[in-house]
Amino acid sequence: MNATDLVFRDAKRADLPTLVAMLANDPLGHLREQITGPLSPAYYAAFKAIAAAPDARLMVVQRGGVVVGTMQLHVLSGLTHQGARRMIIDAVRVLESERGQAIGETMMRWAIARARESGCRSVRLTSHRSRTRAHGFYERLGFVRSHLGFTYELAP
Ligand SMILES: CC(C)(COP(=O)(O)OP(=O)(O)OC[C@H]1O[C@@H](n2cnc3c(N)ncnc32)[C@H](O)[C@@H]1OP(=O)(O)O)[C@@H](O)C(=O)NCCC(=O)NCCS
Repeated sequence: MNATDLVFRDAKRADLPTLVAMLANDPLGHLREQITGPLSPAYYAAFKAIAAAPDARLMVVQRGGVVVGTMQLHVLSGLTHQGARRMIIDAVRVLESERGQAIGETMMRWAIARARESGCRSVRLTSHRSRTRAHGFYERLGFVRSHLGFTYELAP
């Protein structure tokens, strides 16, 4: 994969059906995303909130005009580590038919470069414990198993 083959851009409202379909096409995602019918207004509301947040970016990755990947980036300011900033990467997906061609690797390297530019001290992400292949992917790229994640569910 030549990194220059990929175009990274911020998502537009019109991308949402494509992005949600990518999130849904996944063993975990199909349980939690809307799969049929017109897209729920909740997705559009979420997009509006992300677009308005100065430290959040919903990314679209294209190759040859086709959307092949997506991820969400957040830069958090905090007091710890002497006021360090940190990037959180979330909702990483590569189009199923395009996996295994280093698109995911190029996406992570791109995000890490943006984190450096933003003055972040670290890049952090969580991955569902069932995603063992993704864990190997992140470790290969230099991410280390540094923390245990805990979730307190509020949704019914
Ligand atoms: C994980 C993922 C983003 C990697 O993107 P990619 O473009 O396939 O990655 P690369 O080509 O750079 O690297 C290939 C590695 O990714 C991982 N990978 C490949 N296919 C995968 C899949 N279907 N699911 C999970 N990981 C996969 C493997 O570690 C693979 O290495 P291997 O072929 O030696 O097993 C992508 O496969 C994906 O979207 N998977 C499903 C959703 C997911 O797990 N997202 C991460 C949430 S934390």
